[in-house]
Amino acid sequence: MSDEVEQLNSRGELRHLITLGGLERAHLEEIIELATRYLTPVGASAPRDDILAGRTVANLFFEPSTRTRASFELAAKRLRADVLNLDVNMSSRAKGESIMDTIFTLQAMQVDIFVVRDASTGVPARIARQVAPHVCVLNAGESDVSHPTQGLLDLMTIQRHKGDVREVCVAIVGDIKHSRVARSAHQALAKFGVGELRLVGPAELLPEDGEFDGAKRSTELAEGIRGADVVMALRVQRERFAELGDIPDPQEYSRRYGLTEERLGLAKRDAIVMHPGPMNRGIEIVGAVADGPRSVIQEQVTHGVAIRMAVLALIHRHIDQEAHG
Ligand code: CP
Repeated sequence: MSDEVEQLNSRGELRHLITLGGLERAHLEEIIELATRYLTPVGASAPRDDILAGRTVANLFFEPSTRTRASFELAAKRLRADVLNLDVNMSSRAKGESIMDTIFTLQAMQVDIFVVRDASTGVPARIARQVAPHVCVLNAGESDVSHPTQGLLDLMTIQRHKGDVREVCVAIVGDIKHSRVARSAHQALAKFGVGELRLVGPAELLPEDGEFDGAKRSTELAEGIRGADVVMALRVQRERFAELGDIPDPQEYSRRYGLTEERLGLAKRDAIVMHPGPMNRGIEIVGAVADGPRSVIQEQVTHGVAIRMAVLALIHRHIDQEAHG
């Protein structure tokens, strides 16, 4: 399991980022504080730092991605790293090479940081356990289990709008059962003592009892978002259903759980609307809400680059120490 990987080095510095569950609140604060310094005003040139000059980052995405992959690439380049985006469909994995043989091959080419997304549970942790002592592994999305940089960027976005999350009610609406985004958001928010976390969706898309400690559950959208400060809509993740027949009918799902302007009126007047993307407009969220004045969806994307820059900059301490002693 992911939690078994030691994510810190012997000096207590971040080395791998596999799950937020294994980190202290202080580690999350350090990442968000540095990410805040990497934010520049809209229209200004993108932030730059040469902290990763001479280092190499490999993006290995064995599942589709737009935001996470592009933002890790931009983050690494803005820190002056060399970046390799492996085309996994054209790589030797398609000829049967094991993932660890791919990793060892790239490590022999002096890759220092692996950014990994995979549909199977435990892959980032397995890689982290086997790489060379100076090498770092960052989880960019693991099955339905963990998406730690997404959890960090979501926490950062909520804090920047709402301040201390102990006063905040967050409603996550949609396919929570299959969502690594919701699990990492819960881990992040729980560490900061979120005032109230509500999980809202059809019973079959809510997580098992015993998961999401402290969260309230509702199958009624109106009840779930009434008075909320933050409404986070999630996509139905068709790719994670064991049986195609279990996937909800999009029209019926939209009728009961789609986020419309009228329904958003039940949340607080200054409530913000979040979505990790990719969105299915017209199903879990209508365009007028996604693009409306309460939407912070594009800010989430901007924060994603800053968070990934901060994580890369912080793990650089480990790489340098191991390299130079
Ligand atoms: N939020 C998120 O992980 O988006 P991508 O799948 O586009 O990376």
